[in-house]
Amino acid sequence: MKSILITGSSGLVGSEVCLYFSNKGYKIHGLDNNQRAVFFGPSGDTRWNQKRLEQTILTFEHHELDIRDRLGVHELVKLVKPNVIIHAAAQPSHDKAAQIPFDDFDINAGGTLNLLEAAHQFCPESPFIHMSTNKVYGDAPNLIALKELDTRWDYDDEKYAKGIPETFTIDQSKHSLFGASKVAADIMVQEYGRYFGMPTVCLRGGCLTGPNHTGVELHGFLSYLVKCNLERKMYTVFGYKGKQVRDNIHSYDIARFMDKFIQNPRVGEVYNLGGGKENTCSVIEAFKITEEFSGIPQSYEYIDKNREGDHICYYSNLNKMKLHYPCWDITISLKDTIKQIVESWSVRL
Ligand SMILES: NC(=O)c1ccc[n+]([C@@H]2O[C@H](COP(=O)([O-])OP(=O)(O)OC[C@H]3O[C@@H](n4cnc5c(N)ncnc54)[C@H](O)[C@@H]3O)[C@@H](O)[C@H]2O)c1
Repeated sequence: MKSILITGSSGLVGSEVCLYFSNKGYKIHGLDNNQRAVFFGPSGDTRWNQKRLEQTILTFEHHELDIRDRLGVHELVKLVKPNVIIHAAAQPSHDKAAQIPFDDFDINAGGTLNLLEAAHQFCPESPFIHMSTNKVYGDAPNLIALKELDTRWDYDDEKYAKGIPETFTIDQSKHSLFGASKVAADIMVQEYGRYFGMPTVCLRGGCLTGPNHTGVELHGFLSYLVKCNLERKMYTVFGYKGKQVRDNIHSYDIARFMDKFIQNPRVGEVYNLGGGKENTCSVIEAFKITEEFSGIPQSYEYIDKNREGDHICYYSNLNKMKLHYPCWDITISLKDTIKQIVESWSVRL
């Protein structure tokens, strides 16, 4: 039986790919230590999702391990020799990173290196899929000319009509400490591809979302927004008039892309992975869509100060993904995704 090692298995992306690849007949090795609860407190606790996987996947084996534990990671990869590694464990919040710079770097950069080197030693032929982020571009996208529309910002430059491509600069802008630790990991993943010929790929995520996110204020935009709506809690909008734009992709479509990559891997690749322009929304547009499904008006307060290094408008240009993997496309629209998030929180709250 083929096996797959999935780090961050109790998180949004990790749990989705556990289910997806178990349905494809893989033995699933999930690695998670519920660090999200350490980052964000009880509302970030992902044990519920671990239990869900243990109850639903017959071939699921949980490994309670911290990716900073170099020896532990080495021993696990040596033992399992997985046919695929999907690395989705991280300190995921750019605001949080400033409070815990050592944890952030040790997990995002050091933890990724631990996995890469273990893969290099014990399964160098196995596709290594790394969840990177659009924060590797820092706040450089904010330098693109913008136009202000009624409810959102948009690019006012034809060159970016389809979004940000992978050739965009990652240099000389403000990344947040999180963005910087993810740049280190992203470059290292590319290097293990280019230098050692390993089939590695960085997926630079826009807003990754879905019903199984444990959204908190500092991470998990749509999940947290919907949770606030259902709990009739005040949502705080930080700057840019609430018109900041994100492209959102359902975690199921991420798993589908990973599947295509595994079937036909490439070396040292990089893709921008998001919902693309069709699945963008601003914060205030997200309120409206959520209200449609929940029937609850969203109360919010506005603070006229944006988050440090926050994008005003970001959406991914998906051309490269579609060119390399023409049978992949988005299958779950933004509206359907928000509907699913509303349904999921309605049961979980
Ligand atoms: N969600 C997004 O909008 C988004 C956007 C861009 C990039 N990404 C990236 O995608 C990946 C997955 O994101 P997500 O939204 O699923 O995150 P998540 O927080 O839902 O899941 C990550 C999981 O990793 C675990 N984890 C964290 N540190 C760990 C450690 N040291 N050892 C073992 N486990 C650890 C956490 O407990 C959590 O269950 C991350 O690399 C993140 O940076 C996410």
